[in-house]
Amino acid sequence: MKPVEDLTEIEAAAELERLAAEIAYHDRAYHERDAPEISDADYDALRQRNTAIEVRFPVQIRADSPSHRVGSSPDSGFAKLRHRVPMLSLDNAFDVTDFADFVSRAHRFLGTSGEMVFVAEPKIDGLSINLTYEHGRFIHGVTRGDGTEGEDVTANLRTMKSVPDRLPGKPPALIEIRGEVFMTKADFLALNERQAEAGDKLFANPRNAAAGGLRQLDSRITATRPLSLFAYAQGEASEAVAETHWDYLRRLSDWGFSVNPLSRRVRDAAEAEAFQTEIGLKRSGLAYDIDGVVYKIDALTLQRRLGFVGRAPRWAIAWKFPAEQATTILQDIRIQVGRTGALTPVAELQPVNVGGVLVSRATLHNEDEIARKDVRVGDTVVLQRAGDVIPQIVSVIVERRPADAVPYVYPAICPACGSHAARPPGEVVRRCTGGLICPEQRVERLIHFVSRTAFDIDGLGEKSIREFYAAGWLHSPVDLFKLPEREAEVAEREGWGKLSARNLTRAIEAKRRIPLERLIYALGIRRIGEANARLLARHYGSYLEWRAGMNAATIVGSEARSTLGGILGIGPAIAEELADFFDEPRNVSILDELAAQLTIEDAAVPEAADSEVAGKTMVFTGTLETMTRPEAKARAEALGAKVTDSVSKKTDLVVVGADAGSKARKAQELGVKTITEVEWREMAGMPD
Ligand code: IVH
Repeated sequence: MKPVEDLTEIEAAAELERLAAEIAYHDRAYHERDAPEISDADYDALRQRNTAIEVRFPVQIRADSPSHRVGSSPDSGFAKLRHRVPMLSLDNAFDVTDFADFVSRAHRFLGTSGEMVFVAEPKIDGLSINLTYEHGRFIHGVTRGDGTEGEDVTANLRTMKSVPDRLPGKPPALIEIRGEVFMTKADFLALNERQAEAGDKLFANPRNAAAGGLRQLDSRITATRPLSLFAYAQGEASEAVAETHWDYLRRLSDWGFSVNPLSRRVRDAAEAEAFQTEIGLKRSGLAYDIDGVVYKIDALTLQRRLGFVGRAPRWAIAWKFPAEQATTILQDIRIQVGRTGALTPVAELQPVNVGGVLVSRATLHNEDEIARKDVRVGDTVVLQRAGDVIPQIVSVIVERRPADAVPYVYPAICPACGSHAARPPGEVVRRCTGGLICPEQRVERLIHFVSRTAFDIDGLGEKSIREFYAAGWLHSPVDLFKLPEREAEVAEREGWGKLSARNLTRAIEAKRRIPLERLIYALGIRRIGEANARLLARHYGSYLEWRAGMNAATIVGSEARSTLGGILGIGPAIAEELADFFDEPRNVSILDELAAQLTIEDAAVPEAADSEVAGKTMVFTGTLETMTRPEAKARAEALGAKVTDSVSKKTDLVVVGADAGSKARKAQELGVKTITEVEWREMAGMPD
């Protein structure tokens, strides 16, 4: 084989093509047929060669390059593909006030007022997918997955009539089209009938049936499942295809996609409310399930300016229909112990269908809620389910209460470890005081650690964690990375086997490399959810900086503590929570052992690592004339800058608007660079 340095561009392209096909072939042999044909070492060598050529000839990287596939998930058998543009979710509105708030937030961000046009589209309850077209040809289709990467279901999508294989006319060189795969209610019922006749499994609702159809390893089966698609959004595109979302939908339909015919433009909250009522009345008569209406700001320039916050766009909202209700019998109240020791009451119900979903559990929130509603075992209760949220118990039908039902007594000891369960004054949650001795807290922390939004270890869910914990193999997260040493033992266990044990090892090894924010989140520190973990990662940048910062912040009144509490969105209470965690020597030693097992990636500087302001600390002062403060700040952060409120020696850049006062003066005194608003727009690449 020729050394990579000696390859010509043409030879490189040819070899990348061959490698893509060869690696895909072996992926299928391994994951779909469970029959690998080459050794792991030979397989790795193919991938390494592929990467080496790509590094030398980046322009030759193929759309179907194996390096876009970030490993396969052993349990699903589908290759994973990273989305070029993340697939996000939507914030919810439940009434006209929520909708009006959404509109004012957008106006405030943009510094505008007056009329704003929205496109309203029924919100289909299906699965979102991303379809990539290159030069008009359908190249691949990927499920949403966790929003960052999804499963490659191209072969299955090719069986669907509603997914055009070619786009007519002159489409952009690269365009990604997003939409919802779903099954109509009639198709769902007919499919279930066929399944019943054949003695196959029944689906709970059209959404599950659509998911089942799309996630078949054999696309011949998918071809027999009646799947439909509505297209409604864009991902990456090499050129703009429309100026408004409305026109974009028209382009989609010209290209042969189905666009929901009920979509309509509305101009304000009153029109949106009228549309909501209209669709609500049509809902039960529609051929497919919907759970609300999505409203999107029509002007794409405004969408671009508004951008995203967290995981949702500022330019769209899902206005959900009211929750669906049903009644059933409360069979038992079980107390769950969470990873932070919180005791949560869970209602065990006689299974009941609520708006198309079979429900057998609901949350009872907390001790006070049970007392307030006087919920008793044996009661008939009204159950409610709204969207994806956990079903809730709304009320008790007291007339149907059995004569022997007694008021529920909330436990004062932890059901898992027997420790005292304390409820601090002013708090609603009772917590197990067992800490590290409580087995439930420990196992829940491990479950959290491997969960999808944390380390996301494929094939290692709650069930396996509990199994390995019971076997005495897992005491702390560090032990997870020792599981590969037990591969042979795992393979011998009931329900496992050589292949699944091998897959588990691979899945664990694949996660030795982890982004800082995921690691921070995975630790399960109280009040450090995904958003706060991201804030911390972005502020400190690297693991070592963060670790040192946290260590120093354990000292009350230290500068490190006030820096931590001063991070926008963190605040002193969360800073104290973090300090408490780092004050516990066991936590620190586990973290250090863990870090030694991992390669922790520095926080990603979003969008443009090469932007002039990436990694810089900026301050905006004075009145900005062409954009609002929030917009300026969001843009700066998107370019990787940190925006703070006050000017100090650490400030790198101050943008000085009109009538700037003391901050501009201070910048000058300290010799900090200042620029005008116009210069800032140029630097930030914002169109005039
Ligand atoms: S737009 C960034 N439009 O709702 C905006 N989503 O909660 C991305 N959905 O994952 C979504 N109908 O599965 C959009 N007309 C529609 C939709 C729609 C259904 C689903 C989609 C998405 C979820 C967001």
